[in-house]
Amino acid sequence: MGGNWHEGAGAPDPADRDRLLARAVSATTSGILITAADLPDNPIIYANDSFCRITGYAPGEILGRNCRFLQGPGTDPGTVARIRAAVTEGRGVRERIVNHRKDGSRLCFDLVISPVHDAVGRLRFFVGVQNDVTRQVEAEEALRAGEARLRRAERLEALGRLTSGVAHEFNNALTPILSLTELAVRDVPPGELREDLEVVLRAARAARGVVQRLLAFSRPEPGEMRAVPFAEVVADATRLLRPGLPEGVRLSCPEPAGEFPVLGDRGQLLQLVINLLGNARDAVGPGPGAITLDLAPAELDGLGAEALGLRPGRHVRLDVADTGPGMDAATQEHIFEPFFTTKGPGEGTGLGLSVAHGLVTGHKGAIAVRSAPGKGTVFTVHLPLAAGATDGPEGQSRGEEPRGKETGTADGAHSGDRR
Ligand SMILES: Cc1cc2nc3c(=O)[nH]c(=O)nc-3n(C[C@H](O)[C@H](O)[C@H](O)COP(=O)(O)O)c2cc1C
Ligand SMILES: Nc1ncnc2c1ncn2[C@@H]1O[C@H](COP(=O)(O)OP(=O)(O)OP(=O)(O)O)[C@@H](O)[C@H]1O
Ligand SMILES: [Mg+2]
Repeated sequence: MGGNWHEGAGAPDPADRDRLLARAVSATTSGILITAADLPDNPIIYANDSFCRITGYAPGEILGRNCRFLQGPGTDPGTVARIRAAVTEGRGVRERIVNHRKDGSRLCFDLVISPVHDAVGRLRFFVGVQNDVTRQVEAEEALRAGEARLRRAERLEALGRLTSGVAHEFNNALTPILSLTELAVRDVPPGELREDLEVVLRAARAARGVVQRLLAFSRPEPGEMRAVPFAEVVADATRLLRPGLPEGVRLSCPEPAGEFPVLGDRGQLLQLVINLLGNARDAVGPGPGAITLDLAPAELDGLGAEALGLRPGRHVRLDVADTGPGMDAATQEHIFEPFFTTKGPGEGTGLGLSVAHGLVTGHKGAIAVRSAPGKGTVFTVHLPLAAGATDGPEGQSRGEEPRGKETGTADGAHSGDRR
């Protein structure tokens, strides 16, 4: 047999070497598989106990099958293709691959496959060694996400300072324009001059609207801070949006399991949800499509909180999902920047999400997006729950008073309620 054995004191008797090797393979913490290269579809003919322990499968569920049953969502097709090429050509290969345990949870393997030849050099088997690197991969992912979040936060902060400066200057300039024009409109008799002044007034008011939204992005301090039942805010926002939805668009919001009091400013929180819903509505367009809200408690531990840039503790999580066209990664990089829009002139100012970002930050929360072209979009907002807001006997989260279900198909014509 191949390999190198120490000869001498303590070394096993040559007759015992095979048994020792088998025991060693069985005892190692790495997963080890042997597949039969000359049987159809390269089935597994040996799996050590660690492989079963790591993957959660019983030997009976593994033996005789090709190993690809471990693959699933998240497995990179490029990685599989490289393994396939190596196996077809009888070469060895090493890859990091995303697999799934029997319970469906994600498993990252550092996988090394080597061909095993017989005495005359014919390919007979493959041996696979799997090391579970899930924790390592997760740590790397968290680090990368953290770095990306920091870069984005720094860019938004710089933009915030710039925006704030410009907005304040314009605000100062607009104040006399607005107040004096209002007075002049009142004093001037009906006629051409008055009509001109009314045009000026409308333009100045529109400009003030923009300035106020810029300030909301750049000055993320909530106005009034009180415990606001966030579930009510979300219900209010859906009620406002629903009448404007085209017939083919379903807006659903499962009944939340509580009121979810958040310390903040009710008007600002409403604005936040409306901006997200408005984008979902624009994304789905005339439909058919669906906008789905989900409100749920989220207990963030150290790692979970860190990944979001939040303090650990009790939070409420709002998901706003739509079946629209989704966004590529390049678009997602910029969506929270003021004036970034992919909508046509007059259709979007590109302020909705920057305002939403400012409002969430001002409420010590976090906003994130998950999207891909053709896969729809999910915006997720985490907000800290107001301190002391427990599921107490007050019935806060008991749900004795069920809130109206916001499920169903909306009818009515599309009305752009943004402007
Ligand atoms: C010895 C051996 C071990 C393997 N171990 C794994 C594994 O742990 N996870 C996995 O996803 N694929 C594993 N594979 C790869 C799959 O069995 C298969 O070769 C791969 O999916 C490419 O072929 P396919 O495109 O026909 O599926 C292993 C292959 C061999 C030969
Ligand atoms: N749900 C979504 N689906 C797809 N793309 C989205 C979604 N939400 C936002 N976007 C993208 O992000 C961009 C910026 O959104 P944001 O709300 O800031 O501005 P806007 O909607 O374009 O204009 P405004 O909100 O000021 O009317 C959008 O133009 C769009 O490209
Ligand atoms: Mg918008």
